[in-house]
Amino acid sequence: MNLQSRVERDYQKHLWLNAPSLESYVLEQYGWDLSTDLGGIRVKNPWGKAAGQLSLNTTQVDRDAQGGLGFVVLKTVIAQDESGSSVQKAWMVDAPRMLVERITAKTGEEGWTVSWKGRGWSESFQSYLEFVERSFKLGANQDCLVIPSCQLPLYVGPENPHEKEYRYTLRSLGEALQKSEQPALELDLSPTLLKDGPAPSAKQTLEELGWVISEARKLLPKNIKLGLKLFNLQSDAEQLALVQGGAHIWKQLDWLTIANRLFSKEKGISYGGYDLSNRNLAILDAIRKVERESGEQILPLSVSATGNICNGQMLVEYANRGCTTGQLHTYFQLPKGEYGHDLGSRTLSALHELMFNPEQGLIVSLEALREQRSLGGELNFGAFFKEGGSNDGTSNLD
Ligand SMILES: Cc1cc2nc3c(=O)[nH]c(=O)nc-3n(C[C@H](O)[C@H](O)[C@H](O)COP(=O)(O)O)c2cc1C
Repeated sequence: MNLQSRVERDYQKHLWLNAPSLESYVLEQYGWDLSTDLGGIRVKNPWGKAAGQLSLNTTQVDRDAQGGLGFVVLKTVIAQDESGSSVQKAWMVDAPRMLVERITAKTGEEGWTVSWKGRGWSESFQSYLEFVERSFKLGANQDCLVIPSCQLPLYVGPENPHEKEYRYTLRSLGEALQKSEQPALELDLSPTLLKDGPAPSAKQTLEELGWVISEARKLLPKNIKLGLKLFNLQSDAEQLALVQGGAHIWKQLDWLTIANRLFSKEKGISYGGYDLSNRNLAILDAIRKVERESGEQILPLSVSATGNICNGQMLVEYANRGCTTGQLHTYFQLPKGEYGHDLGSRTLSALHELMFNPEQGLIVSLEALREQRSLGGELNFGAFFKEGGSNDGTSNLD
């Protein structure tokens, strides 16, 4: 049977559901070992739930772990001190309604976005710690890595005006993380959303991040892998300056997640769709080009992608630029009819589509690369794309 017929068969008949695991099925049928790396931790496949409204209770985490995701990043908790006081108190708000909408990019490409004005974890910090520990157990049962996420206030040193918050939050998370066999924490620091007034510049953000990351490193136990979810600044040029200028900061991280949603000043909300993925891919292209030409490594060894990953082809676009995992939020919120098959759980239905869609799924996208590069035998996703930086991408910055 040729490739297209095999993928069609798998798409229509969901044969992988009868196999011991998605990974064993894909290895046996297509010769791809889906395992990969996030911050030096092996994950069984590159598909992850991004931090947000879809990872804020154990029912969701359990569904994702059972549904086969490689990892889940939990909803972001806001830093506070021991007494519960926080300079980011305004972020601890109950989530208003989310609206999943079509969005047309500057290029005319049609995608999806979620309109929402909510922010961080709104319950008590103690309840977050309990949620984290319960989620570790649910993840471990299914070989699904669970990563808490935390937002710290930005500052410029050398004095840390928020030291009490840093100390209490990071010590508490550090302790809770010892209950995980693979302790990892993602920081979510969003200056575009944190500040009123003029949009933050790359220069100012770099200065703040330099202090914040080294302080976090100092306060966290040494065995914790630390990642940073990078935001998107207002313009392409500022974003490029941020990513390029931060090489010395990224060296203190185990991974960098590129990059959170764009921000609309007019509407006062963040948004996604193709404008977001086009921006992220163009920045990655530009950075990889500088790395090739200068011989200097700018990004950390592990880069995780986020932004408009709504099919396997888009994950491969990011992977070709050296991102070895993908974190999805919007795709898991689409109207159910957008997934070709209802397999009972949303996670399963989404994962099936992401993997086996005959036009844009991961299998056909990976096999197209195999053919292009005339490669036979068994291939490993993580190893294959670790050197993805050799891509000669065609996207351009404005
Ligand atoms: C409703 C909503 C809530 C979110 N909450 C968080 C959050 O708490 N922490 C975080 O780091 N990112 C948060 N994000 C960003 C997502 O994790 C993700 O990185 C981003 O939306 C881009 O991926 P997507 O295009 O697949 O949605 C949120 C996104 C949405 C749509």
